[in-house]
Amino acid sequence: MSDTLPKPPTILVIDDDTEIRYSLTRVLSSRKYQVIEAASGEQGIAMVKKGPAPDLVFLDVRMGGMGGIEALQHIRSANPKQLVVLMTAFGTAQTAIEAMKYGAFDYVMKPFDPAKVLTLAENALKAHADMRAVGDYKPTINADDYREGIVGSSPVMQDVFKVIGQVTASDVTVMITGESGTGKELVARSIWKHSHRTSKPFIAVNCAAIPDNLIESELFGHEKGSFTGATVQRLGKFELCDDGTTFLDEIGDMALATQTKILRVLQQGEIQRVGGTETIKVDVRIIAATNKDLEEMVKAKTFREDLYYRLNVVRIRMPPLRERGDDVPQIVDFCLQSLVKQKKARVTKVSPEAMVVLTRHKWPGNVRELENVIYRSAVIAQGDAILVKDLPAEIRGATGVETGAVAPGSGASEPPCEMVRPVTAKSAPPVPVKQAAELAVGASGASLASGTNLTLEGAFDFLHAELARAGEPMLPVVERELARRALAAAEGDAALAAKSVGLTKAALQKRVKE
Ligand SMILES: Nc1ncnc2c1ncn2[C@@H]1O[C@H](COP(=O)(O)OP(=O)(O)OP(=O)(O)O)[C@@H](O)[C@H]1O
Ligand SMILES: [Mg+2]
Repeated sequence: MSDTLPKPPTILVIDDDTEIRYSLTRVLSSRKYQVIEAASGEQGIAMVKKGPAPDLVFLDVRMGGMGGIEALQHIRSANPKQLVVLMTAFGTAQTAIEAMKYGAFDYVMKPFDPAKVLTLAENALKAHADMRAVGDYKPTINADDYREGIVGSSPVMQDVFKVIGQVTASDVTVMITGESGTGKELVARSIWKHSHRTSKPFIAVNCAAIPDNLIESELFGHEKGSFTGATVQRLGKFELCDDGTTFLDEIGDMALATQTKILRVLQQGEIQRVGGTETIKVDVRIIAATNKDLEEMVKAKTFREDLYYRLNVVRIRMPPLRERGDDVPQIVDFCLQSLVKQKKARVTKVSPEAMVVLTRHKWPGNVRELENVIYRSAVIAQGDAILVKDLPAEIRGATGVETGAVAPGSGASEPPCEMVRPVTAKSAPPVPVKQAAELAVGASGASLASGTNLTLEGAFDFLHAELARAGEPMLPVVERELARRALAAAEGDAALAAKSVGLTKAALQKRVKE
């Protein structure tokens, strides 16, 4: 048996202020951390490069010679996994944003609260250990093998796959039921893709999203002059979808009068345009879905019994995610690999602790909620793995897993980005700022910088959406803010700032004052 004690973690303190170095060293040494010091950014970089790499670096932002943000970039490019906590007496938004953008683990305000510094060091070192622990992560699946997009090897999902296979050969009407976000539309598309109608259109109609007075025109079309505003003849979805597949989503929300007309399509293959007298033959396969209890609706006479039986020839019940917990790791890997492919995130791994949290969660919003959580966490994660600290608080809080690691934010236990607005999905949780921008832009372009997940495209989309919501003319705001930033970046040199934004000096000064 070896009697050597485990080596204490090494912390490098980089600050040109002797007193700060002294007091920080005292605080950190009280926890048996081994502290080494550097009196400038240049010296600190040399120490990291020479190695052995410290477990953690505390780095001052304002120093004579090279500043902390620049030193941070050198350190992270020499060792991309190096954990760095920035220290600043000026908690400006710019410093905070730049610190996180260039990959700092966190930043801490001077003067220090010793307890906070120690908690921060502990959290950073825990995250460091967690990241090392996921080093040999093996994904459970290869997303390329799941072109269908439906992932899951649980027995209930295997049964779903079998039924999909069985119904593709015929034109039988299929009713898909299940909670929101369980994959009903995904299954409907899969049936269509494998059917003989695959070369013909698949048209999805969300019956809950279209007002009752418009749905008939939407589905069956209308004749010119049939109602106010019907200035031209318009073909409906059934006619457009002739020989194809119509997906009637949220059929439980359809008005009784429309239900009668759907029955006619199913029984006779006939429609009539709104305001028309001609009977038109259509050949469509119908797949319907709902998260409502249609049996109860039939009893309550809010859903036609005859239509219910016509639709319910084959029933596919999508199981909620909580009944197929074993599928969670596969869906997580699928989501991560898809995000990487779409260049929306770089994260490929999940720590074992985080996976336990994800597997134990009840997922009231089902796969859609899981997808959303993985996206949010992947955007926030600082290394190549999602750790427990990266998961949204409501997911972490709902399980009994003890983590010890918390998200950055000066020792606070909340995630660094707070939520700004809900996503459109009914049950999905709100979205962090960075993700809101990414959601708006879709597949991202080039990154702003290696340490950030927000793209320039995404930033513009986010900005446009936010300014549009404010309802003010956008350009003056944008010009003023850009002018102010340019002036700050040029350290007050108006001529230089004006050049950088492509304005004359006078125009820049005018914008700044607006
Ligand atoms: N088994 C699965 N594997 C991978 N992704 C899935 C799976 N099931 C659902 N998803 C994804 O989850 C999201 C929600 O799926 P979908 O829209 O099909 O659900 P839904 O049951 O129609 O929900 P709603 O009732 O709210 O309309 C989609 O992004 C889909 O790609
Ligand atoms: Mg749906």
